[in-house]
Amino acid sequence: MIEIEKLSEKYVEQALALKVSDEQLMFVGSVQEIFESIPESGHKHVVLVGDEVVGFFVIDTAYSKNYDFCSEGALGLRAFFIDSLHQGKGYGKSSVAALKPYLQQAYSQNSKIYLTVNCKNLLAYRCYLKYGFTDTDELYCGGAAGPQYIMLMV
Ligand SMILES: CC(C)(COP(=O)(O)OP(=O)(O)OC[C@H]1O[C@@H](n2cnc3c(N)ncnc32)[C@H](O)[C@@H]1OP(=O)(O)O)[C@@H](O)C(=O)NCCC(=O)NCCS
Repeated sequence: MIEIEKLSEKYVEQALALKVSDEQLMFVGSVQEIFESIPESGHKHVVLVGDEVVGFFVIDTAYSKNYDFCSEGALGLRAFFIDSLHQGKGYGKSSVAALKPYLQQAYSQNSKIYLTVNCKNLLAYRCYLKYGFTDTDELYCGGAAGPQYIMLMV
């Protein structure tokens, strides 16, 4: 059973130790790169199993300022990943499924959320599609690693 929480001091060290495989770095970057690139509008979150941090993501509250496809005030999901040691255990899909109720409670003013996912990252794409996001049928081509599907959860 996973839980989603805003990153607090208690979990910073564990969050900084999270990793993805070398092949996945093109999709999400290292945790150090993520931490350095998060804008002030980005709220860091952790995925917890008990007291253990198994994953991470950012809720960007100013996503619409950077992405034309994002409607005014909607949120953006960035840098979502599950630690490589914990992948394949169902934590990714549980986190995606838990996102909607979490956002409705924690971002109740506007919980509509967009994300982009690299077209080569089929595992993540299918996980988003199956557990709550819809494909907008539009592509975002501004990323460094090739075109990305634009997905939305309302
Ligand atoms: C995408 C990601 C978050 C999925 O998390 P996960 O915890 O490994 O995934 P889960 O165990 O919850 O499985 C999700 C689905 O993928 C399938 N899956 C998981 N690992 C798989 C593998 N190695 N091969 C094939 N399918 C796999 C599962 O069967 C499940 O599908 P189901 O609903 O039919 O059962 C994780 O792979 C990840 O962190 N990837 C690197 C970072 C990344 O790409 N982030 C997305 C950026 S947009």
